[in-house]
Amino acid sequence: MADAKKVNPNAPTSEEVLAVRHFTDKTFSFSITRPASFRFRSGEFIMLGLMGEVKGKVKPILRAYSVASPSWDDKLDFYSIKVDDGPLTSKLQHIKIGDHVLLGRKPVGTLVCDAVLPGKRLFMFSTGTGIAPFASLIRDPEVYEKYDQIILTHTCREVGELAYGFERVDAARNDPLVGEIIGDRLTHIASVTREDYKLTGRITDLLESGELFKRVPGGAIDPKHDRAMICGSMDMTMDTKAIMEKFGLGEGSNAKPGEFVIEKAFVG
Ligand code: A2P
Repeated sequence: MADAKKVNPNAPTSEEVLAVRHFTDKTFSFSITRPASFRFRSGEFIMLGLMGEVKGKVKPILRAYSVASPSWDDKLDFYSIKVDDGPLTSKLQHIKIGDHVLLGRKPVGTLVCDAVLPGKRLFMFSTGTGIAPFASLIRDPEVYEKYDQIILTHTCREVGELAYGFERVDAARNDPLVGEIIGDRLTHIASVTREDYKLTGRITDLLESGELFKRVPGGAIDPKHDRAMICGSMDMTMDTKAIMEKFGLGEGSNAKPGEFVIEKAFVG
């Protein structure tokens, strides 16, 4: 069979767009079909994209995207920024229901239950589109089996950018599968840094001033029973990691679970 066409088992699959929602002029969310064989752990990311022209050649343009829906859902949700001159998101922001996108086959990531030790409280610190993996995790029953209290923080420059987080937390609370399990165990703290709002300030400042702990059940972070996941820009991730270490938490990985894990939010 010398001339049989070789099928690349790692090639992305083509998935249909089921829904698109524009949140701000800088962000949008979309849902796509999920291949029956696609398995992932809530909190992981995957390569996703479109065919495009790069230096005169048509080829897949793929970027890492956190899956924003839980592992039990039959579709896949994503949350993306729009970069006008971005090779992928300049085009991806125009997708419509019925269009197709390319989906990689190998989900990976460290913002997963397996990489964090059990405990009483799990903090999820996010900025911007870094909230996406937590939108997945807050709808996963495993999270509530492993931790009593979940504290999700989301900090953005402007109030309008917080809308996606409010919508996802609301969806989790009203979810037929996990809504009842969640009850009063999920605390959502939203803050902005470049506009007036009821809570202002970077998450790093809210942690260091103790302002955050006035708003969450259980007070300041204690390494004995508190755990954390961090997802934002490289600077935010590194600065928040340093604060976790000051509180006495040690970093974990898939190979060796620890008290906290980090992942840089991806830019399309
Ligand atoms: P700020 O407005 O003070 O820069 P970005 O869009 O740049 O990723 O920022 C998203 C949010 O993350 C903004 O509220 C921003 O605050 C905040 N941020 C940026 N850098 C850091 C950092 N090193 N530590 C904590 N928060 C940060």
